[in-house]
Amino acid sequence: VSDVNVRYLGSADLEAYMALREHSFGYPDDDETRTRFLERLPSIVGAFDRDGRLVASASGFRFETHVGGRAQGLLGIAAVQTAPAARRRGLARRLIRRLLQDARQQGIAWSMLYPFDPDFYARLGWQSLPSSVKLRLPIAACGAPSHVDAHPIQGPLRAALAPLYQRCVVGWNFCDARTAGPWDGWDDLQPVPGTRSSAYDLGEAYLVLRLRDDGADGTTLEVRDQSWCSAAGRSAALALVASYAGQAEWVELEVPRDDPLAWSWSDWYARPTRGTRMVRAIDVGTALTGFDAQQRSDPVAFEIVDPFAAWNAGTWQLENDAGVTRLCATQLQPRARLDVRALALLVGGAASPAAVQRAGLASGESAPLRALAALAGGRTPHHASNDRF
Ligand SMILES: CC(C)(COP(=O)(O)OP(=O)(O)OC[C@H]1O[C@@H](n2cnc3c(N)ncnc32)[C@H](O)[C@@H]1OP(=O)(O)O)[C@@H](O)C(=O)NCCC(=O)NCCS
Repeated sequence: VSDVNVRYLGSADLEAYMALREHSFGYPDDDETRTRFLERLPSIVGAFDRDGRLVASASGFRFETHVGGRAQGLLGIAAVQTAPAARRRGLARRLIRRLLQDARQQGIAWSMLYPFDPDFYARLGWQSLPSSVKLRLPIAACGAPSHVDAHPIQGPLRAALAPLYQRCVVGWNFCDARTAGPWDGWDDLQPVPGTRSSAYDLGEAYLVLRLRDDGADGTTLEVRDQSWCSAAGRSAALALVASYAGQAEWVELEVPRDDPLAWSWSDWYARPTRGTRMVRAIDVGTALTGFDAQQRSDPVAFEIVDPFAAWNAGTWQLENDAGVTRLCATQLQPRARLDVRALALLVGGAASPAAVQRAGLASGESAPLRALAALAGGRTPHHASNDRF
């Protein structure tokens, strides 16, 4: 599409952006929304037709995540939209590629988004990952109530919980580190007096709670946010939840897919969250460099196929550079061939090499796939709905 000008938006584009957005997603028409959009305009890339009209846009927010126990930059892509009369001309695709190119220049390793249709983004190299399970359980499923040493939090949640949160989320892949972003997610969780809300620090875990009256269904204890960084923390958090027995019949909480509550109860009590998220390596060199390297005397070469982000395509090998991984281009014969989507699955700890091969996302020998899966360090993906952008 050559007759289109692509650039980031500024405050003069607010009305045009709101008009386009109204058509695609709608929005609450209030001052707060206008202020929020105004703040976000510099993160939004737009396509303008030859009359200067905004005909498509896509937002790219900068976050930080953890992968394999290390912090990496994350580009959150949202609100991809093209005016109906300009659709099917490759504009969405072009804006998305522009966001990737700019993030790549800034050294951002990964990108995440919530798809309207997973197939649309799979064609562009994004991979759906399991995120978490939302359960609505009879409160007795949390075990027996017992006394726990819980410290009620009075002031701002961020000040009280951010260090503990960091200790917890480093154990997951592709979570939101909550250190950067266009807004502060802790603000939305802040307990408000008069709403039966509370928050507790349990040392190795925390809980942000609210009691909700569900009429004839009784009372539900909503766990609005929680994390634990050890078995002791988890057990204390569940004991505190269980102590609401008698006051609440149900508990609603969201847990990682490999939490014991999910193992035992998902098939009875899981609720849809429509929270599918997809992840993509923006630049394979940035995404795979800097992990703790295991002793590896024989680096294995693998080919990456990535038609949408051609800078990633080629044959690479993972080397051990003074104790950390480094991805290098190589002339060696590749021993496996991977769709770029396989990287999110393997490095994210979401699927085994065998599953990735069965999905048709990799072929050849499994040694390179095992080396990539090892970067996850046994961690699995987790992303709480609270962190949706
Ligand atoms: C989805 C949307 C952004 C696509 O915009 P677009 O500029 O028409 O997309 P492109 O022309 O770049 O499409 C690239 C390819 O994606 C596919 N595609 C486009 N629209 C699609 C749709 N609605 N569903 C599934 N695939 C689609 C096509 O394969 C297309 O290639 P083709 O035209 O050669 O077949 C646009 O339809 C839109 O604004 N929808 C409403 C808002 C929305 O739902 N946004 C998604 C938020 S995650």
